[in-house]
Amino acid sequence: MKNKFLQRISDITRIHHRAAFVDVKDRVAPKTSAFLKLAKERYSCRSFAQKAVSDQDIDQILEAARVAPTAANKQPVHVWVVRQPESLAKLKKTTQYLYDAPVVFVVGCAADKAWVRKYDGKNGAEIDAAIVGTHIMMEVADLGLGCVWVGSFDPAKVLEQFPQMDGYEPVALFPVGVPVGEPGEKHDKRQAKEEFVTEL
Ligand SMILES: Cc1cc2nc3c(=O)[nH]c(=O)nc-3n(C[C@H](O)[C@H](O)[C@H](O)COP(=O)(O)O)c2cc1C
Repeated sequence: MKNKFLQRISDITRIHHRAAFVDVKDRVAPKTSAFLKLAKERYSCRSFAQKAVSDQDIDQILEAARVAPTAANKQPVHVWVVRQPESLAKLKKTTQYLYDAPVVFVVGCAADKAWVRKYDGKNGAEIDAAIVGTHIMMEVADLGLGCVWVGSFDPAKVLEQFPQMDGYEPVALFPVGVPVGEPGEKHDKRQAKEEFVTEL
């Protein structure tokens, strides 16, 4: 049984060891993670091989979308998988940005199912949809596939072409496929940390 003094010395030594360890580790190898590596490798893919995406990959992308968090767990988001030629042709009437991808995921949200912030009435549906969309993008990248977030489409036309989406607002389209080509010129252009972050 240690006396109080010895206990205290031992605690201090442990804390110092921990501090020294963190310090050395940070100096020797900057912290990295599988996620950060993936986040940096992901890019907007706008050119796809004429090759189908497997059912297994589609299921895995949908599973990543399904487990995304939503405000108050209200889950006001739905995903449609568009891959039949006639459905892709309908979707093509709503945007010029499908890039001939073999499959497109459509993410939509329902404001009447979403959490609402009591202070100002802000509806969380679109934010939830954006998180689901981000899960889709990152899972696509992790599978070695490519996709691009498409926000430039006519939502009224999407609803007109797909009555099955009634009650939802389409938020984003994700053409997905086997990537061909390179990241675009904007991929590496991000604000510097000093510009992007302010410590208060
Ligand atoms: C909300 C949102 C909407 C976007 N809409 C489109 C679009 O309609 N068409 C397109 O080609 N790219 C679209 N993009 C892709 C961006 O242009 C791209 O993410 C950005 O230029 C950075 O490039 P990177 O994704 O390769 O890093 C969109 C991205 C986001 C996040």
